[in-house]
Amino acid sequence: MYDYFMPNVNFFGRGSVSVTGERCKILGGKKVLIVTDTFLRGLRGGPVEKVVNSLKKEDIEAIFYDGVEPNPKDTNVADGLKIFRAENCDMIVTVGGGSAHDCGKGIGIAATHEGDLYEDYAGIEKLEYPLPPLVCVNTTAGTGSEVTRHCVITHTKKKIKFVIVSWRNTPLVSINDPELMTGKPAGLTAATGMDALTHAVESYISLGANPITDAAAIQAIKLISGNLRQAVAYGMNMEARENMAYASLLAGMAFNNAGLGYVHAMAHQLGGVYDMPHGVANAILLPHVARFNLIANPQRFADIAEFMGENIDGLSVREAADKAIQAIEKISQDVNIPMNLKDLGVRESDFELMAKMALQDGNAISNPIQGNEKDIVSIFKSAF
Ligand SMILES: [Fe+2]
Repeated sequence: MYDYFMPNVNFFGRGSVSVTGERCKILGGKKVLIVTDTFLRGLRGGPVEKVVNSLKKEDIEAIFYDGVEPNPKDTNVADGLKIFRAENCDMIVTVGGGSAHDCGKGIGIAATHEGDLYEDYAGIEKLEYPLPPLVCVNTTAGTGSEVTRHCVITHTKKKIKFVIVSWRNTPLVSINDPELMTGKPAGLTAATGMDALTHAVESYISLGANPITDAAAIQAIKLISGNLRQAVAYGMNMEARENMAYASLLAGMAFNNAGLGYVHAMAHQLGGVYDMPHGVANAILLPHVARFNLIANPQRFADIAEFMGENIDGLSVREAADKAIQAIEKISQDVNIPMNLKDLGVRESDFELMAKMALQDGNAISNPIQGNEKDIVSIFKSAF
């Protein structure tokens, strides 16, 4: 038996940001908290301005929390909550990438649940009450957080990223407008695109994979392999942006239901300890974790090589599976992702603690090989 989670309504395509206001009205919003960052808020003609204009048409008041940081912090959630409460907001609209959406989910949880987000709600299906209505306007391709039930927050004191997985986190409406993604710099496009590829690959080999998530993951891998390089090379390439937006959404649909694996479990530690960008951490770890996981299901890795456009004619399953790892390394290199952890200031002395924490991360349970601390340390070492 499998379960399947998605937002109630999902809008896609150029110009779709214009439906934000009418959707908020349908949900009964009169005063919404827009959760975003200062850069997007300040961008003339940018996503936040478009959202505000759409809200104005429906006479909906917009209040701002624009302090979202990358790897959103518990302090961001607390600051946003203060404004949500002081202004008596009745719903939340997030504008940005995964950081904005996760922060918005965190504010929604904190607004409706007593206690501490980490102590009381980290883990799977621990939320007890409905969150305020949440609309996610997505601007990166991407984390997929606009369609998922995952909320990842950084605990600033403990220096860990914790995950709150619950169907109650699922946004009511997602909006993916590729026109909002054209201005993104190459480095961010590369990192978020590699995050989406990691979602698709981890879903496809996950213990929770099923025919529905496979369909989404396969198409995502094909679209990313065919479009990420072009979107990084020329950010105004609308076709590449649109295909990456589809890919990110599909990969989000896949992992929301299939689960992830050790890449994410380990990348969360690099995010928590070093504040490393999530997509970069994933991209560096992905080939190393794939090498570790390969023997669990060589055929699935051979499939991935084919989806990524590799010629596997005449190869044994094992040879084709190896080609998947090479293809992942190739795309990572082409979009200029750093190749090892050492160059990013990671310390070997942190490996043991990070390995311990990675095994406790909610994403570890669906990895196709259940390893131990020693295994995780040696994967960190191979990526060093
Ligand atoms: Fe991710």
